[in-house]
Amino acid sequence: MGEAHKADMESGGLVKTLGVRDLVSLGIAAIIGAGIFSTIGLASFNGGPAVSLLFVFTAIACIFTALSYAQFASTVPVSGSAYTYAYVAFGELFAWIIGWALILEYAVSNMVVAISWSQYFVSMLEGFGIKFPAWLSTNPITAAEAFTKLQTEGIDSLNIAEQNVALAYQNAPMIGDWHIIFNLPAGIITLLVTALVYIGIKESRTASNIMVVLKVGVVLLVIGVGAFYVKPVNWTPFAPNGVKGVLSGVAAVFFAFIGFDSISTTAEECKDPQRDMPKAMIYTLLICTVLYVLITLVLTGMVNYTELNVNDPLAFVFQRIDMNFMAGVISVSSVIAITSALLVYQLGQPRIWMTMSRDGLLWKRFSKIHPKYHTPSFATIITGLVVGIPALFFEMDFFVDLTSVGTFFAFILVCGGVLYLDYSGISEQSKFRVPYLNGKYLVGLGLIVAIVLLFIYGQDVLGEWRTASISYIFEHKILTIIFWITWIALSVMSYKYNFSILPVMGILTNLYLMTELGSSNWLIFVIWLVIGLVIYFTYGYKKSKLAQTEEV
Ligand code: ALA
Repeated sequence: MGEAHKADMESGGLVKTLGVRDLVSLGIAAIIGAGIFSTIGLASFNGGPAVSLLFVFTAIACIFTALSYAQFASTVPVSGSAYTYAYVAFGELFAWIIGWALILEYAVSNMVVAISWSQYFVSMLEGFGIKFPAWLSTNPITAAEAFTKLQTEGIDSLNIAEQNVALAYQNAPMIGDWHIIFNLPAGIITLLVTALVYIGIKESRTASNIMVVLKVGVVLLVIGVGAFYVKPVNWTPFAPNGVKGVLSGVAAVFFAFIGFDSISTTAEECKDPQRDMPKAMIYTLLICTVLYVLITLVLTGMVNYTELNVNDPLAFVFQRIDMNFMAGVISVSSVIAITSALLVYQLGQPRIWMTMSRDGLLWKRFSKIHPKYHTPSFATIITGLVVGIPALFFEMDFFVDLTSVGTFFAFILVCGGVLYLDYSGISEQSKFRVPYLNGKYLVGLGLIVAIVLLFIYGQDVLGEWRTASISYIFEHKILTIIFWITWIALSVMSYKYNFSILPVMGILTNLYLMTELGSSNWLIFVIWLVIGLVIYFTYGYKKSKLAQTEEV
């Protein structure tokens, strides 16, 4: 372990106050949020009831990853999540890349959560008969698009939500030619949550614990009451749009799982991180998986999947069966529940930046601890601005995809990092180790089985390859090629180095899901990485602790 990190553990200045229950609570607070309250609607609409299986598959990828995170958290109990782990396993450059990718997981995902919060907030107010001005609760891009559609295709081509935002565009106050449109509730909630996180970890923990109880309560209420209104006929057909329809929900479903790793950002505020982190991560993930599968089956069982293309599916299904009181209760509690997700990421992002700054990769001010509140105050304020400002002006879907692609990337490197810990012998120091099953032959055997199955059951997929041109393959299949090459490489390396099979499966399942996100998301992600590298080589490379040590 790096000397710098050891020193940090001894002189962090943060308050050690969290136990397993708090960590599970923080984990649930982070995981259950906009994903299950909002984006699950569109995923179910596209994939039908079979999306519940996608939840299981994604959970498996996450469990492999959580085990890897747990091993790292028990080896390197320092705030900073995957960033810290990459620092230990792969060195500074990789660590920077991961830290940069984690901004997508924490800050960018919180833009989604803030926007989703705003949607639930506005519809909750409507439930009380209060109409929040549409120009103050949407984004200018969506509004301008809806307005153009209104003008070109007429009002009948727009659904109610689109009509509202098109009118918002038309009626918004103007400065010159500029229509003043922004998402005020998303900005205000980010500001309030940032203020809470600034004041202290204890206050944040108490607020989070209360909100989590409420959140799990809402989910259990939906499952418990909804189960009585399930009509099994709605589960047929189970996968109406086939595998393609189900997989189109990867980003949304994965988004719903993101967060279990954020527990690891509080390692320095944890009473016994080596013992408690692994337990907490795995408990959290299991609890959420069970809840998600049940809730998806209930939603798609209560109404036909074709009706689920809504922003507030949990409240909607009860409205749909005329249980308006229940819909109202869910709407109000969802607003509080989503706030807790927002809280965890606002808590996590500054702590990652704090750790990066201690390593000299970010400006010193990012690791400044507030003398009275004992929180990374400057980094917290910057997080507030980075999340709050885009949430005012941008739409949600773009951020969902971007978050997912960045997070898959980070997860893959963490699983790969465990292989490195084993290889280098650092695993011997880990208080928790990913259960070891020798993958020497199994990884390659799995590859052969997958190829055989592809030839038996995947003739339609292979047919597409046979007829495709080189340029088509380059444009649309490059990700699939990367996936197969990685599997071949891992088979060879497993044979050579006796790789543990669970982290290898973590890499492959995450990579497979990542390939389903589409090449445009990858492209944006690559651009994001290039910007990150430019910053690294102009700042961190020269100013980092490692660079200073080498100079001496
Ligand atoms: N998993 C978090 C959510 O669904 C990001 O809001």
